[in-house]
Amino acid sequence: MQAIILVGGLGTRLRPVTYDTPKALVPIRNKPFLGYTIDLLREAGIDGMVLSLGYMPDPIQSYIAERDDLDGFTVDYAIEKTALGTAGGIKNAERFLRGDGPVVVLNGDVLTGMSLRAAIEQHEAKGARATITLTSVEDPTAYGLVEVEHDMKVRRFLEKPSSDEITTNLINAGIYVLDREVIRSIPADQEVSIEREVFPHLQEGGGLYAHVSSSYWRDIGTPRSYLAASNDVLSGAVGAGEDFDYLEVDSSVSVGKNAKILPPVVVGLGCRIGDLATIGGRVSLGKNCRIGAGAMVEGSIVLDGAVIEDGAVVRGSIVGKDVRVCRGAIVRGLSVLGAGSVVGEGNVLDLGIRLNPKVELAPRSVSF
Ligand code: GDD
Ligand code: MG
Repeated sequence: MQAIILVGGLGTRLRPVTYDTPKALVPIRNKPFLGYTIDLLREAGIDGMVLSLGYMPDPIQSYIAERDDLDGFTVDYAIEKTALGTAGGIKNAERFLRGDGPVVVLNGDVLTGMSLRAAIEQHEAKGARATITLTSVEDPTAYGLVEVEHDMKVRRFLEKPSSDEITTNLINAGIYVLDREVIRSIPADQEVSIEREVFPHLQEGGGLYAHVSSSYWRDIGTPRSYLAASNDVLSGAVGAGEDFDYLEVDSSVSVGKNAKILPPVVVGLGCRIGDLATIGGRVSLGKNCRIGAGAMVEGSIVLDGAVIEDGAVVRGSIVGKDVRVCRGAIVRGLSVLGAGSVVGEGNVLDLGIRLNPKVELAPRSVSF
């Protein structure tokens, strides 16, 4: 069986991280996100995938080309010239499908421990034309709300409901099993939404079923959820695999005197940690980062090449590639710093502030 992975979106809500990295490649525990999706597919015995690409296809293709462990797993690329939407992206991938059996489709930004096999088996047992996997969330407004009958038939699919339209906390988990005839019926070469057009139409015909899963699930598409997913992987809640090691510090890492590294943490190759620095509370440091003397990094993702200077503090935030957080600056409260930006001495960033790539904040004098 093959899968189609939708990885063509702009990743708007995860900007500025997605200005230079497509959402499918943002790292979690220093592994590009697509790696987790591939693991999920291979665990379910899927033989290959078609990547439905649009925004920044090149780095995604390079990532696959560099992987030398995908023997027996086929990868094809369907690249859109203009955004075709979720169903349009599936249609565009159709030409790479072999045989005539059902296909698994995944949104490329969901992290889950769900069993694809269980969904496929239920799809076959019900004789469904399409099966949507469901998960429950506290607030369905950012998702596709799905009402189901007792026999698991979908009664209603409502994408991005307003708060007064919420009738259930079950939502579309972005993983489907589709019969080939469903893909055949999507119009070609135009923008089509599976959530707003295909599913409501299938529901009317009665062939749309749901498979509910209680496994771990999260969409990583916002800074808050990306950070939460990173924390969850570091804590071993999902995706860690059997080789999981809470304290992952390579021998290429230099650690200064009395520096504290508190697990679970991953420290990338070539990082340098200064004297008395503290790194803890679920931190992921990319390659070649430098953490200055007495600096503190807590509950954060710090991407390759970032420098956190002496005495600076980064807490609960996302620090992009090659960012410089200068001496004594504080970055907290889910701030997101774009690649190459500079936070000058004495600045305090808080309340989810986002800095665009390469922006330089001038130093501020601090008075007490
Ligand atoms: N090829 C292609 N072309 N892919 C696209 C396009 C496109 O035009 N637009 C979006 N995608 C990809 C994105 O890259 C992402 O992996 C996936 O489709 C879903 O898009 P999102 O933009 O992340 O959608 P969402 O999170 O708001 O909502 C979707 O996912 C939720 C679950 O995470 C919907 O499917 C909801 O119903 C669902 O609950
Ligand atoms: Mg999403």
